[in-house]
Amino acid sequence: MNTGYTFSKDFLWGTATASFQVEGAAWEDGRGASIWDTFCRTPGKVAFGHTGDIATDQYHRYAEDVQLMRELGLGAYRFSVAWPRVFPEGHGTQNPKGFDYYNRLVDALLENGIQPAVTLFHWDLPQALQDAGGWPVRETALHFEAYARAVFDALGDRVKSWITLNEPWCASLLSHLIGQHAPGLQDEQLAYQSIHHLNLAHGIAMKVFRDGGYDGQIGTTLNLSTPRPATSRDEDVLAADRAADRDSRMFLDPLFGRGYPERHLAAVPRVKMPIHSGDMELIATPIDFIGMNYYNERAVAFDPEAPEQFRSAPAYYPVTHMEWPITPQGLYRQLHWVHEQTGGIPIYITENGCAQDDQLSAEGTRVHDTGRIDYLRSHFQVCAKAIQDGVPLKGYFLWSLIDNFEWAWGYTRRFGIVYCDYTDLRRVPKDSYYYYREVIAGHEPF
Ligand code: FCB
Repeated sequence: MNTGYTFSKDFLWGTATASFQVEGAAWEDGRGASIWDTFCRTPGKVAFGHTGDIATDQYHRYAEDVQLMRELGLGAYRFSVAWPRVFPEGHGTQNPKGFDYYNRLVDALLENGIQPAVTLFHWDLPQALQDAGGWPVRETALHFEAYARAVFDALGDRVKSWITLNEPWCASLLSHLIGQHAPGLQDEQLAYQSIHHLNLAHGIAMKVFRDGGYDGQIGTTLNLSTPRPATSRDEDVLAADRAADRDSRMFLDPLFGRGYPERHLAAVPRVKMPIHSGDMELIATPIDFIGMNYYNERAVAFDPEAPEQFRSAPAYYPVTHMEWPITPQGLYRQLHWVHEQTGGIPIYITENGCAQDDQLSAEGTRVHDTGRIDYLRSHFQVCAKAIQDGVPLKGYFLWSLIDNFEWAWGYTRRFGIVYCDYTDLRRVPKDSYYYYREVIAGHEPF
């Protein structure tokens, strides 16, 4: 496919990272423990027992990383604030040195013409809040208020793009039902309580932002599941629609005042949602944009025996090093779906990218990651096509600037366009970095 489209000059090209995955300096300058520090030390949870102690050491090497961004011609850098770095106990006493770090990073970005886009919560919950119950308890969402306000107050004079939460699906279901992410629970009721409290925390942060009169754009980032029907038969189309209830509508619908999907709640009658009066209104505070993280699409088929009458269907696509199928056409479908569901507000792809088993060249100065370039190009093409169709896609953040701590996979999966040599933390731009530089410069039509 080649549409001949050139992205407009004001299309925002970015890269994304998250605090726990890149910062390191885990025990420096007063940072408190997060649930991921604990999870890394729980036997069997993270590959090889890898930790975030050093990560890519961005905490100390941010100036070098900002130079790499500048040479890339990057418009924006999405990073997250580590809640336990600024509130070591999650609430109460603030840690000024934590704020100092984010001030330095924001200033360095702005001095180099790069717009900061800040996520308030990308999964590193303070361990102290976990000890008090974590996301299954309401107090955690209530503590998000003081945290959000402190970050807006500290950085809001310079940061004009805010994302409240990253992928609440992961922070609730993957972490409390499937148990693959911290805190590693497998409890359905607690998982649904987490869904509501994460949504509530988002709503609370929205209110703080609006009431505080801060200047800038604020939204949230979801990883939506919009499965492809295995065939065009009506029952498969319905199955794919139902498959979006739990993993997408439980997060998206409340943001737009539609509440939780009744069809799904009826399918899990044993679950009680801990809704208090006023919560749903707060959660529905209008957002300025929706962020979507997209990596792949699965297919589902009708199955009368299954609890919600759908099952996964096999798909035959090449896969990345995560074993995730490469499905750019799914991004195209999802962009249209999100546009229909969100009433025309601006859309940003806040993450997209792929893991490859990258190898340094013999002389140690290059990484020929052709597979990643192919992946990116095919996804840029569908973005171009969607924009031509009228989808208000305003920007794209590539995951990731640099290889980093890939959660339960530790350092065994590489998503960066810059290679991180974990033996000495040296940065080596990969071929995809140079390719992305051309794309950003507008040299590549799609
Ligand atoms: C997303 C996460 C991000 C990164 C990518 C590969 O789910 O938001 O931190 O790990 O997956």
